Amino acid sequence: MPATIIVGCQFGDEGKGKIVDYLASRAEMVVRFAGGNNAGHTIVKNGREYKLHLIPSGILYPYVRCVLGNGVVIDGKVLIEELNGLKKQGISTDNLFISSQAHLILPTHIKTDTSSEEKRGKNKIGTTGCGIGPTYRDKIGRFGIRLGDGALPRSELKQIISSHFKEHDGVLQYRRQDLFENEVLKLVKYVQDIWEELAPYICDNISYEINEVLDERGFVIFEGAQGLLIDVDHGTYPFVTSSNPCAGGACVGSGIGPTRINSTLGVAKSYTTRVGEGPFPTELFDDIGEKLRIGGDEFGTTTGRPRRCGWLDLVALKYAAKVNGLTELAITKLDILNTFDEVKVCAKYHINGVSTDKMPTNSRILAKVKPIYQTLPGWTCNIKGVKEVAMLPENARKYLKFIEDYVEVPIRYVGLGQDRKDLLDLKK
Ligand code: GDP
Ligand code: IMO
Ligand code: MG
Repeated sequence: MPATIIVGCQFGDEGKGKIVDYLASRAEMVVRFAGGNNAGHTIVKNGREYKLHLIPSGILYPYVRCVLGNGVVIDGKVLIEELNGLKKQGISTDNLFISSQAHLILPTHIKTDTSSEEKRGKNKIGTTGCGIGPTYRDKIGRFGIRLGDGALPRSELKQIISSHFKEHDGVLQYRRQDLFENEVLKLVKYVQDIWEELAPYICDNISYEINEVLDERGFVIFEGAQGLLIDVDHGTYPFVTSSNPCAGGACVGSGIGPTRINSTLGVAKSYTTRVGEGPFPTELFDDIGEKLRIGGDEFGTTTGRPRRCGWLDLVALKYAAKVNGLTELAITKLDILNTFDEVKVCAKYHINGVSTDKMPTNSRILAKVKPIYQTLPGWTCNIKGVKEVAMLPENARKYLKFIEDYVEVPIRYVGLGQDRKDLLDLKK
């Protein structure tokens, strides 16, 4: 069985959770490899809604091992809340495993996230305020706190936390040694308490287990959060998250080699949405944008913010296909276009008098491109409940074919509704 990476190919919220949930029925393991509780993945099973932020979308199957890999950043309190919420809904969480190498989001990271946004003023990024950026910054700076540190003898944890504090400017306010000591001890307790509560789930070097399942040819899904266009390296920097949600991040964030990967499935909506700030070439400010927002219920799972909406950007999608090395595509929310007489796709950008099908990487340039659209006829009928591709209206099939031909990646799955069952597998 293959090892498959599932990644978002737009600005996030493409419907990754639903696709992972669908495929997880056949998986042995689902591994989250990046991001934190900035993610919001909604799964609908038999009409019942499950909202996940950190826990992998395979959790609804008690026999699937779900892993939070080393690349994930963890807010212990949020995770404990999410675990309790699932248990209340009757979902077992005994199949969750957490890497001891995952970095902890601390209360100070959340405060810094908010205060940095305030300082940025009109240049703000529009972060989720979950402390993601500051936590990854400390990790890369080599003074972060990892979940497994909570198991160390108190004296050693104290040393790690003192070093952590000394790297922060905030330490200047603790001119008195006793006040500094007090802050260190408070954080020691915080980290130890989180570790104790999560101890039944924590594993040292989970990469051995992941590799073992792969050795035995078990099906492992690497679940991406966020999307390529908000990747810290490949996205619309600086309006990005602070991790690598691209397919390459799956190896780094879980401890497996690239030779283990068999396929990479990219998820994209049949139109585009974005939450937060940053360039968005196909954004619509008119009633079509509003119609997509209302029809698609485009309000953030994590922050409740209205999502910015626009037509499908094929230039960006093809770029995402290249960077992720996609072998297959899933196009979600095709049903949201049901009532449009015509649908548009952006097939080129116009920049400084030149047209191109390549994505500029500088956000200031991207903010100025003019999208060149191709208009396709709509299908104006309800496609929910359709069980095979041949039963889709001709214009819906033409729309999918246009995407496939442009991006040069075969479409494997098509989303026709929110529920787990509303998904067409084109190979079935
Ligand atoms: P993720 O972050 O990529 O997992 O996506 P989200 O869960 O944040 O947002 C996608 C939203 O669209 C969720 O509310 C899903 O339940 C919903 N959704 C996913 N696929 C489809 C689809 O094909 N049709 C419709 N109508 N809704 C879908
Ligand atoms: P899922 O997994 C959509 C966006 C935020 C903000 C930027 C940086 O549900 O697709 P951060 O808090 O990460 O520092 O914010 O990234 N963002 C997302 N947008 N879906 C997500 O996750 C996102 N995670 C972060 O809105 O613009
Ligand atoms: Mg989401």
